[in-house]
Amino acid sequence: MAGNIKLQICDNAADVAIQAAAAFAELVRAQPDAVIGLATGSTPEASYAEMARLHRDSGLSFADVTSFNLDEYWGLGGDHDQSYRHFMNDRLFQHIDINPWNTHVLNGKARFPELECRSFEDRILAVGGIDLWLLGIGGNGHIAFNEPGSPVDSRTRLVSLTQETIESNSDGRFFSDASEVPRCALSAGIGTIRESSSLILLATGEKKADAIAAAVEGPFSVDCPASLLQDHADCTFIIDAGAASKLTSK
Ligand code: PGA
Repeated sequence: MAGNIKLQICDNAADVAIQAAAAFAELVRAQPDAVIGLATGSTPEASYAEMARLHRDSGLSFADVTSFNLDEYWGLGGDHDQSYRHFMNDRLFQHIDINPWNTHVLNGKARFPELECRSFEDRILAVGGIDLWLLGIGGNGHIAFNEPGSPVDSRTRLVSLTQETIESNSDGRFFSDASEVPRCALSAGIGTIRESSSLILLATGEKKADAIAAAVEGPFSVDCPASLLQDHADCTFIIDAGAASKLTSK
């Protein structure tokens, strides 16, 4: 079942980044106080570089934008160089004019995780919800740290990472050794993500091809968390030819 997921298949990863950044630029130009959702990982890095370029060269302003990030490692403070707060500051926030007070990344060192998660959800509600949320996808189909089996109505919470995710994040791109990767994270739930008015999921490379095929053409099932986006009213997958290579209908 393809559901409602719209596919934008690009020739290469560079085009994926340009298309993704263009979608955010279009939103922010039309609605300067937009509320955007952001993601970490290797895949969105080039999109953030392109957003920073649009800010620098074309005057795209994020001055009135509010942002929320999908997740954060449990136990890492924002000053840790592998924290997602650090990633966002380094890859995007310091290169654009967003007000740091309007950037929301879960606190991985919060004293009370339930309170931190509830406060995150409350802050999303207080600004009227998210207009457009950027997502990546794991090789096992996870979105944020919602691993297979995560309920469709899950909310922001403390979760455990699967061994596959721990290994994928310790392949030298981020942590150099699996023993360094935190075992838990705070993650927006699938229900939280599904409430965003629009969603853009990025995937590049053949290593994501099985997950993309399962998400788009497989059953609506918790076995592939990204398939739980199939009934979303406005969800676009922007993917390259490698990630699209196992789709039967393109
Ligand atoms: P990646 O991670 O962009 O580093 O491949 C995506 C994800 O696991 O959600």
